[in-house]
Amino acid sequence: MVGLSTNIQKISPSSTLLITSMAKKMIREGKDVISFGAGEPDFDTPVAVKEAAKKAIDAGFTKYTPADGTAELKQAIVDKFQRDNGLTYTQKQIIVSCGAKHSLYNVFQAIVNPDDEVLIIEPYWVSYTEMVKLARGTPKFIRTKKEGGFKASAKDIKTAVTKKTKALVLNSPSNPAGIVYSRKELQEIADIAVSEKFYVISDEIYEKLIYDGNKHVSIGSLGGDIFKQTITVNGVSKAYAMTGWRIGYLGAPDDVAYAVGNLQSHSTSNPASISQKASLAALHMDEGEIEKMRSEYEKRRDLITGLLDQIPQFSYIRPEGAFYVYTDISKTGIKARDFAGKLLEDKLVAVIPGEEFGSDRHIRFSFAMAPEKIKEGINRIKSWVKP
Ligand SMILES: Cc1ncc(COP(=O)(O)O)c(C=O)c1O
Repeated sequence: MVGLSTNIQKISPSSTLLITSMAKKMIREGKDVISFGAGEPDFDTPVAVKEAAKKAIDAGFTKYTPADGTAELKQAIVDKFQRDNGLTYTQKQIIVSCGAKHSLYNVFQAIVNPDDEVLIIEPYWVSYTEMVKLARGTPKFIRTKKEGGFKASAKDIKTAVTKKTKALVLNSPSNPAGIVYSRKELQEIADIAVSEKFYVISDEIYEKLIYDGNKHVSIGSLGGDIFKQTITVNGVSKAYAMTGWRIGYLGAPDDVAYAVGNLQSHSTSNPASISQKASLAALHMDEGEIEKMRSEYEKRRDLITGLLDQIPQFSYIRPEGAFYVYTDISKTGIKARDFAGKLLEDKLVAVIPGEEFGSDRHIRFSFAMAPEKIKEGINRIKSWVKP
């Protein structure tokens, strides 16, 4: 019998892609579009990384590698986790995949049984929910409030736990709201995870983009028990401006890592050999280069929030990390998807509607773009949103 699976039909199309493809089409037509949509750094990939890739090609490093990544890259990741995060993994607990998105997808496939619940904190990155559904699990949302900084407390999490709870997805710093959990908050969440026995999938992809002198804390580093229940996901896309190279990785308990490696060996096999060499160079790079990009993002965060403050209908939680401002537009009386559509049409400014993150009252601005563009884009909006 022909026809799609019922499971695949549960997956929603992404409005991020819709808006960004509309914006791109308009740019191709020669329109002067300013896009706050992109979830990627506007910096070029560092020279040392590009050179390592060229060298890999010239040296003929262009064949299959072990499906879960080369030993040298896995060792660099083991060292990175130890150095930056206080996490002690062995090489066999590391799996390298085609982007952090792929790592996350693999994890859900590896641990979720049909009807298992996975706790997702709102606002959330939309792919978590769709990946859980693809694994035939059920996303269970934990609602948060602006007054609480959009953070889920240990109590909120405990209330959401049922017998079916398999995992909690934690994303700090977060997309879309730039939330950063403190050590104390993470410790309380870790205690619940250990006492209620569920996994924590800690998506730390924005780890290096953190502001105001804060320091990122990995939940898995907060004790031996939570370490055994944590799957730490990271990658090179955001910190090293390498979104197109597609390298993500995870550190996990032995059985989870083994299952993910097995799944990957029968699906994608290894991530591109050349990208692995490039990522090795990235992980060995001087931290000073990352710091330059991080401090530039911090300046842009200050710029965009200062400009948004001049629009009385907007409010937001000041982002402490990542490169997004999740902005409440409910005072305009327009639902997010309509707001984004009309804004693009009228003022040629692209933003991501909050429906994507669980709210029709918010839009997301990315500030991974040149300061002049930020100024021009927000000025266009200012003149468009009438008091
Ligand atoms: C929260 C979050 N996790 C993971 C990813 C995936 O990153 P990658 O490019 O490594 O697949 C993204 C990318 O936008 C993200 O925003």
